[in-house]
Amino acid sequence: MQKLRKVQTCAKRLAGELPQGFSPQVGIVLGTGLGPLADSVENAVSIRAQGLDDFPPSSAPSHEGRFVAGILAGVPVILQQGRCHLYEGRRPDDICLGVRVMAVLGARGLIITNAAGAVNPLFDAGSLMCLDDHLNMTGRSPLTGPNQESWGPRFPDMSAPYDRTLIAVAERKALELGIKMEKGVYACVPGPQLETRAETRALRALGADAVGMSTVLEVIAARHMGLKVLGISCLTNKNLPDCMAETTIEEIIDSAKGCGDALKRLITASLPAMARFCSKQ
Ligand code: HPA
Repeated sequence: MQKLRKVQTCAKRLAGELPQGFSPQVGIVLGTGLGPLADSVENAVSIRAQGLDDFPPSSAPSHEGRFVAGILAGVPVILQQGRCHLYEGRRPDDICLGVRVMAVLGARGLIITNAAGAVNPLFDAGSLMCLDDHLNMTGRSPLTGPNQESWGPRFPDMSAPYDRTLIAVAERKALELGIKMEKGVYACVPGPQLETRAETRALRALGADAVGMSTVLEVIAARHMGLKVLGISCLTNKNLPDCMAETTIEEIIDSAKGCGDALKRLITASLPAMARFCSKQ
């Protein structure tokens, strides 16, 4: 179900906490271990998500559950620090509430980040991966139920969910900054269990380069509302089915924190060009 009233109420309450006339150009969702980017926002206003009409709390480790609005690299932004997931028992609508609220507040572009396991054997843990496409392996969609025509069409196109111009901007900036960034397909699974060897093999055979438990439903909601999307994964662990190493959530969070600085530099460098491009569309 797409709940128009809930999104509108949250957007109104959030807008009421923001400086007069502030309208974000770009929304940013920060995934596991990636919250510290919020510390770089200037003139930051921090709003606890739970105060906004039952905003679903995240029980996931390292997910703060707040919005931070302000200026990053000269661009008005709103960050969602922490998200909720299917594995917490949340519905697609809850998971996408933040992205929809950011769109209603005026964001035309979305940067969405996550921690993911590398499934492509050539990709290393500790690298970034720019999302080129995705596989929705959850069997769920935020668009089931009556369509909100005011948000977007009943059958939105998904031929290029991640914007090609924004990918090119991020790739150019990564090169200039000397940041290693792969490009590939992100598969979203419901979790919370990590993948078996057979599942990892199957995901690779299906064309996945990385696997994680978030992002894809939010991207579907964002594209439905016409947002231009840039997706970046921090590859926190390497899933090789023939020599699978054990992974723990603590290792994943630690590794994501290790990618945090590169991600921060990349996003900060890409934002001005991204905002210019999104405002022209
Ligand atoms: N699998 C699923 N989700 C993840 C992983 C993984 O290996 N690493 C980080 N998030």
